[in-house]
Amino acid sequence: MNKYKIALIKGDGIGPEIIDEAIKVLDSVCSKEDFELSYEEYLMGGSAYDVKGEPLPQETIDGCKNSDAILFGAIGGDKWDNLPRHLRPESGLLRLRKELNVFANLRPTQVFDELLDASTLKPEIIKGVDLFVVRELTGGIYFGEPREKTSDRAYNTMVYTKDEIKRIAVVAFDIAMKRRKKLCSVDKANVLEVSQLWRDTVIEVAKDYPEVELSHMYVDNAAMQLVRNPKQFDVILTGNIFGDILSDEASMICGSIGLLASASVGGKVGLFEPIHGSAPDIAGQGISNPIATILSAAMMLRFALGETSAADRIEQAVKNVLKDGYRTKDLAGIGGKEVCSTTEIGSIIADYVAKI
Ligand code: IPM
Ligand code: MG
Repeated sequence: MNKYKIALIKGDGIGPEIIDEAIKVLDSVCSKEDFELSYEEYLMGGSAYDVKGEPLPQETIDGCKNSDAILFGAIGGDKWDNLPRHLRPESGLLRLRKELNVFANLRPTQVFDELLDASTLKPEIIKGVDLFVVRELTGGIYFGEPREKTSDRAYNTMVYTKDEIKRIAVVAFDIAMKRRKKLCSVDKANVLEVSQLWRDTVIEVAKDYPEVELSHMYVDNAAMQLVRNPKQFDVILTGNIFGDILSDEASMICGSIGLLASASVGGKVGLFEPIHGSAPDIAGQGISNPIATILSAAMMLRFALGETSAADRIEQAVKNVLKDGYRTKDLAGIGGKEVCSTTEIGSIIADYVAKI
């Protein structure tokens, strides 16, 4: 029987409560499949700062690197907002991404038919949307040097090498090949040199994928097209900061940011996390939606461990639970029959997983 070591980073705010529900669901799927998971917990973010004085302790880096995959909740909160940049919770996450070399951030957006009314967009615009954002995660303006802030001037640098663009493009084309074979590369090539190199390189990589229909879009237009007609997109390939912005926008197509999972891959060990943040304002109240984290656990099974039937089982269970009308507070009143707490919906999904 396969045995996998999972590093758990619960993090701050609602992080711990949503990870606990994902574990419930993973334990349930293990009881039905032929593999075992063991968990080791590590600190990162504000909670790590409070205990260790730094947002990413060395033992977290080592533990993560020695695991088969990492399941992560969320980090951040007002409490740590005034710390110097290198001590802020976000710095811990950015450093971990870099340490793990997880340069490819995969963010799928799928609209559940049962939740069409949850979106602020019209149902006919979003019905059937199924798009996949591939965001470069360890380069671009997030990491570019030089960078500096003085009291009257500050700057960052958006930099990409050809190799960095190539490897993320290959990931995106490979994903497009397994989907509807359409790829839209998003840049700002009408203004930025870095985007011109991005576009040239994507065109070069495309030669190896003649079956994929490639298009290019400026990021401002892409932001508009995403709400105008999101169904035109299959795979969106873009850089770090544009992908950060567009993936939050894409999440609103499906109504709640509490539903969207993500995978950060490309290095030896992958990092799996919901795309939402730590929501400190609702932490501990039992109203957070653990579905994004549960679906991130499914992505972990699929992309890191190759346990596809277990991943399918979780994704199907989530669909069925939504179809049967169970809702957390963020989706209350959207065609549902009852409002469940965080732990209730976790248990229901775990039960459904066992029944599939
Ligand atoms: C995300 C988040 C992070 C990012 C923050 C928390 C540093 O917004 O994963 O999208 O900007 O990458
Ligand atoms: Mg973001």
